[in-house]
Amino acid sequence: MTDFNSLADAYGTPLYVYDFDAMREQYEKLKEAFRGRKSLLAYAVKANSNLSVVGHFARLGAGADCVSIGEVRRAMMAGVPKYKVIFSGVGKRDDEIREAIERDILYINVESEAEMGRVELIAAELERTARISIRVNPNIDPKTHPYISTGLHDNKFGVDIDTAKRMYIRANASEALDPVGIHFHIGSQLTELDPIREASEIVADLVRSLHAAVGIELKFFDVGGGLGVRYDDETTIEPYDYAQAILSTLTGMDITVVCEPGRFLTANAGYFLTRVLYEKRNGSKRFVVVDGAMNDLLRPSLYKAYHYISAAKPHAGTPTPADVVGPVCESGDFLAKDYPLPPMEHGDLLIVHSAGAYGFGMGSNYNTRGRSAEVAVEKGEARLIRMRETFEDLIAAEQACLD
Ligand code: LLP
Repeated sequence: MTDFNSLADAYGTPLYVYDFDAMREQYEKLKEAFRGRKSLLAYAVKANSNLSVVGHFARLGAGADCVSIGEVRRAMMAGVPKYKVIFSGVGKRDDEIREAIERDILYINVESEAEMGRVELIAAELERTARISIRVNPNIDPKTHPYISTGLHDNKFGVDIDTAKRMYIRANASEALDPVGIHFHIGSQLTELDPIREASEIVADLVRSLHAAVGIELKFFDVGGGLGVRYDDETTIEPYDYAQAILSTLTGMDITVVCEPGRFLTANAGYFLTRVLYEKRNGSKRFVVVDGAMNDLLRPSLYKAYHYISAAKPHAGTPTPADVVGPVCESGDFLAKDYPLPPMEHGDLLIVHSAGAYGFGMGSNYNTRGRSAEVAVEKGEARLIRMRETFEDLIAAEQACLD
């Protein structure tokens, strides 16, 4: 899509580069898949929370799914209107709940009876009615990585169906609560349709029975995120089939579908650029040491996630397996294991693909490493959307505390 060599020269490495046109195409494809039904794509801010990325989706009409008041603030600062902002998460502090109610967002997604109690209390104190949705845990195995599976009773997320029923009845009777939605999210990087359809069916049945038995009319059917992407050779779900699987469970219901995609919108639009520092061998093992590390892109270390890597210029020589490792003092600091690469030289540029979701956002300052710069490319034009962190940025909060 673009000349990575000149971007690396202009902005330095390590560097994140995002293709804003590819992000827009993904957004439009998914939005189109829900045509004919009221729908809201609430972008999962956690996937890539850069203000310019969130703003890009906001301008396309997206809402925002947020998991902290920080993300709520980010989304609204980036231009997402309050009536498209959702606040989810298993542990919200009182001050976060208060601010979400005061900001009058679309709804707060509650994840336990205890939490609903706090929301009710805080709304009553503020003399407001809090719009809520309840996250149901449908006990479905999404068949994805255990760390990103969330729809089983073993996971900390949501409440079971019986608890949800009880909560809706209680919320419906409360002056301070307005139950407007229902939510589920069974996991991330989903590549199979059946678990999604099954979960949707279970939750849709609950909506019907709440209507029939207690007269509760929910307005939003929030199916969470999770749509998988291709990192390697995965077979992924087509947006149209995804939408159809959900819509087929909602026949005869007048309800807005809310969807919270993160990875689908950003993963394959993002590239992580890193330069080779050295090659080395320990015995027969080959290492390519690069200037990017686990503090920049954690997914390989944390999940053994695979990311396709390519060289920015053609290289002579036969590719042989190498571990691509960073400068961080951890054996777990790698971007790839046994990856076939031709001989590399100091300064060569490598491109780590599919890095637009859960890349920069999961970064840290471990080993006093400043986080990378971020660049957007749109209609052939590149622009900086986050400055590279300096040493001064890293120590400012500590220096302020020195005598
Ligand atoms: N909605 C809820 C309630 C979620 O928990 C998540 C992701 C999403 C939406 C967005 O899911 P997506 O469409 O991006 O799959 N760090 C991991 C992924 C963690 C996902 C957490 N929740 C990774 O790098 O694979």
